[in-house]
This record gives sequence, C-alpha cells and structure tokens, in this order.
Amino acid sequence: MSSSRQALIAGNWKMNGGLAANRTLTEAIVSGLNGSSCDVALCVPSPYLAQMQALANGTRLQVGAQDVSPHASGAFTGEVSADMLRDFGVRFAIVGHSERRQYHGETDAVVATKAQRALAAGITPLVCVGETLAEREAGDTEHVVKRQLAAVIHTNGHCISEIVVAYEPVWAIGTGKTATPEQAQQVHALLRAQLKAASPHADRIRIVYGGSMNAANAAQLLAQPDIDGGLIGGASLKAADFLTIVNAAV
Ligand code: PGA
Repeated sequence: MSSSRQALIAGNWKMNGGLAANRTLTEAIVSGLNGSSCDVALCVPSPYLAQMQALANGTRLQVGAQDVSPHASGAFTGEVSADMLRDFGVRFAIVGHSERRQYHGETDAVVATKAQRALAAGITPLVCVGETLAEREAGDTEHVVKRQLAAVIHTNGHCISEIVVAYEPVWAIGTGKTATPEQAQQVHALLRAQLKAASPHADRIRIVYGGSMNAANAAQLLAQPDIDGGLIGGASLKAADFLTIVNAAV
C-alpha cells in the first residue's frame, strides 16, 4: 500500500446471504470497524441493497453492488441500472468479475460500458481483470490483463482516474490458491504503468487484489507498494476473518 492512496477492502458476497444472516454478519462487521481507517464496502446481491443501505446508515460501511446493466433504462428484463443502484446508496459496483465474463459471456466492451454507466451515476466501478491458469501458463498474463483494462480506458477517457481496478487471477478465485505477494505486485505494477500512460492522475487510482485473500495472507499482500486493498469473496462471509483483513489494511 502507498500512503498516498486510501486502502479499500470490499467484500463480495456473491450469491450468498439471507435477511437474517445478512443482519448478523453486517452488525458483527460494523461493530469491529472502529480501529480501522480504510474504506470498507460490502457488495451484496441486489435484493438486499435496501437492507444493506439501512444497516450501513450512520456507519463507516459503504454499500456495493455486484454488477450493473450496460443500458440506461428500458426493455431489458432482469437488468438493474446504475441509477437504480444509486437510489439505494450504492457507492461501488463490481464490473467484469470473471464469473460474469465466464458464465454470462461478458466481453471487454460490455465491461467497459458497464463501468461507463456506473461512473455516469456517480458510482465507482470496481473493474475486475485477471488471467486464467491456461493463460498464465502460456505466458499471456500481461497481454490479457492489459487488453481487459485497455477497453475500459478507451471507453472512459479522462474519467479513468475515478475507477478502482481489481486484479483477480481467475486461478486464485475460490480455490485457496493465492498469488504470491510478488506475483500480484508484478501485475499491479504493470497495470499502474498502463494507467499512468492514460491519465496524469493514475497515482491516485486504487488497484486492489482479489483471489483467496484471507486473514492469514492479507497483511503480506497489502504490504506490496501497488496493492491498495482487497476484493474478498469467501473470507467476507466470516466477520472475524473479514475484520482481520480490514485491520491489516490500516
Ligand atoms: P475469493 O473470491 O476471495 O473467494 O477467492 C474473490 C472474488 O471472486 O472476488
């Protein structure tokens, strides 16, 4: 982490939760936030945004969504627009998560448009990039992550300094295999250089790491100069583990 950037720890609940369990988990997290100063967000399934808005009200916790429509409004059954998310106090929206790219066919261009919609609504897109195991083994990591980020830079121009980038190697997500701090830092530095070439304000863009970040490995990852926080899946469902990560980011 660099002292010039405020760290961000964002939980990604994915398709987990329920009204009662959400309340218990969120209240436990909120009650443990006092000692920390980093930004903390929970990205929850859309039906729970209203509940999360109420639970986060008056606390340091920020509300996040897991996706946003690339369309503004209209005949798009099942989609949730950026303006609708904003109605529920949403500050962050994950876009381009590898599970969306893989299972829902999201292309780099769609991801870039989603980021654009979020920004237009005053929501910070958490833009996910990352290579698969096959791509890493073929030596394609740099090419893949730069291609994914280039699409977002191209579409969003000077607004690019308002995004957060999440480097999430696909082979590390939900697998218990974490990139080593050195592996992650190497990719974060590449992404930082790419952002610097695109924006004079790149130094303030946060690049967070995701992929089996947990209570045991967070501190080492967060100690790297270009790792500015984490996007946490599995470990965000356990209050104690999530809070350990939050405290490692202070
Ligand atoms: P994980 O998920 O922490 O469970 O690996 C991270 C993510 O998918 O954002």
